[in-house]
Amino acid sequence: MFTLSSTPNSDTQPLDLVAAIQDLKQELNAVILAHYYQEPEIQDIADFIGDSLGLSRQAASTNADVIVFAGVHFMAETAKILNPAKQVLIPDLDAGCSLADSCPPDAFAAFKASHPGHLVISYINCTADIKAMSDIICTSSNAVELVRQIPADQPIIFAPDQNLGRYVMAQTGRDMVLWQGSCIVHETFSERKLLELKAAHPAAEIIAHPECEAPILRHADFIGSTTALLNYTQRSNADTFIVATESGILHQMQKQNPNKHYIPAPPTANCACNECPYMRLNTLEKVYWAMKRRSPEVTVPELTRLAALKPIQRMLDMSR
Ligand code: 13P
Ligand code: SF4
Repeated sequence: MFTLSSTPNSDTQPLDLVAAIQDLKQELNAVILAHYYQEPEIQDIADFIGDSLGLSRQAASTNADVIVFAGVHFMAETAKILNPAKQVLIPDLDAGCSLADSCPPDAFAAFKASHPGHLVISYINCTADIKAMSDIICTSSNAVELVRQIPADQPIIFAPDQNLGRYVMAQTGRDMVLWQGSCIVHETFSERKLLELKAAHPAAEIIAHPECEAPILRHADFIGSTTALLNYTQRSNADTFIVATESGILHQMQKQNPNKHYIPAPPTANCACNECPYMRLNTLEKVYWAMKRRSPEVTVPELTRLAALKPIQRMLDMSR
């Protein structure tokens, strides 16, 4: 049983957190959306677990009054942009994203101004301010599909992830101007250690998220978003997978197919750097307190929200 480690009143009985969260869900008419990179116990109480596209679709279609977003800030912000009348709660307001931080609005505005006539396609891992300056938002599961729909003579800026941008360029044959951002987690993997691991498990398939750098991606048997990686492990005949993305995804892989083996791809340093330090700020206890206190709440200024909504809506309309 998960219980509170501290309560405001020291004489309070231990609280069954899972039961208390279920009660609050009824009371608030709340839905809990969780990304695959969340701690296993958070994934296990979520109403929906998904990748960024799946979570955006859920956020766009939910009937709940309150959305509890167990993920990072830009994800909760996207939910708020899609649902201005709903309250969007996040367990920890400091759950940011190195990729979103790598693209400050002022610098990006100047970058955009220096490339007139370019269509701006931004990865959903960016702030509402960057979305508001974009023409189309994409996620790792639809970036290739969306870029293929853009007329060949239309110049494109792709922001903020340079690794995903390069992967999309390789897949589509399109040249794009790339913002030089990246994710600290997906840049942590060591090619040398990956090859050593593969040599030790020659029958294993390497699967990787497109936020990884090219030296990792070139060894991958399959590349895709977190949902695509999860689905691939189900349909592949392989028995063992070396997984180059945040290790939280292994929980669903193990749950969906416990007879297969999943090995996290090794980071360069001896660290747990394949765990996103932002995603992992969220805990079951913080989910409980966010619902109990209805705080921290994520809000977006209305003018920014309206401008950011258009490219998100375009993405939802353009992707299957
Ligand atoms: P997806 O959810 O699109 O797979 O992206 C992974 C990620 O880095 C989210 O922050
Ligand atoms: Fe951002 Fe990378 Fe963490 Fe995803 S894994 S939230 S891209 S820092």
